[in-house]
Amino acid sequence: MSDLPLNLCSAATQVLLQADPQEKVRLSKKFSGAWASGSIKDVGIADILPDRPARPARPKLKPPDQMPRRSTGEKGRVALIHAIAHIELNAIDLAWDAIARFAGEDLPRAYFSDWVQVAVEEARHFQMLEDRLTELGAAYGDLPAHDGLWEAALKTADDVLARLALVPMVLEARGLDTAPHAADRFRASGDEKTAAILDEIAFDEIAHVAAGVRWFEHVCASRGLNPVAHFHGLVADRYKGQLKAPFAHDLRKQAKMAREYYDY
Ligand SMILES: [Fe+2]
Ligand SMILES: [Fe+2]
Repeated sequence: MSDLPLNLCSAATQVLLQADPQEKVRLSKKFSGAWASGSIKDVGIADILPDRPARPARPKLKPPDQMPRRSTGEKGRVALIHAIAHIELNAIDLAWDAIARFAGEDLPRAYFSDWVQVAVEEARHFQMLEDRLTELGAAYGDLPAHDGLWEAALKTADDVLARLALVPMVLEARGLDTAPHAADRFRASGDEKTAAILDEIAFDEIAHVAAGVRWFEHVCASRGLNPVAHFHGLVADRYKGQLKAPFAHDLRKQAKMAREYYDY
């Protein structure tokens, strides 16, 4: 296939530089298929990696503390779907960024395959939520969205361990704690369709957290670091908030995240 990028890093860069969410989804699917089939073989190196991914003109991005308060009722539910869709769009870019940003480190091929798999699942999550917004007479971009996730990416661009600690092991793991409640909220209001989408997403996210834990522990072992102690240090240095209970211990356990990481 002649129109494929030369290697996985240029594939990742192409996705990151693509502003149109639909195209981001389409390219993520195409490149993950090409990686799986071996049409893209080499990881390569990214030489023009942007600090920030390209994004559409809407939604307007605001700092997390300047977000308007979410309304209740049907409007509030649409706003919640919109907020989760925005997280999923960020998650597509975060997965490709984890590939291209740290390609120069001595990481095994399985690391890259894991984040390609995450990228294509995030693309599917975004798509499902965007389709659902359309069914509800709304669209991605209608409401402002916050830039908290990419702020975490910028803060951890210098170190793969910091990235794995803050993104999959803090932020995505937080999603495991909150997702069941979000699904319940839609179910309680009679929106079984959105609830089922959120259940499906939550199931996939367990594997994303598991990938974070697996590679965090792999890199810690290769650098002779104690993973739990190093994780606590990174959270203290680089994460603004607190790890907030209640924790979904059962889901975190399925992701092979030991309780000492977060319940201390
Ligand atoms: Fe996701
Ligand atoms: Fe995820």
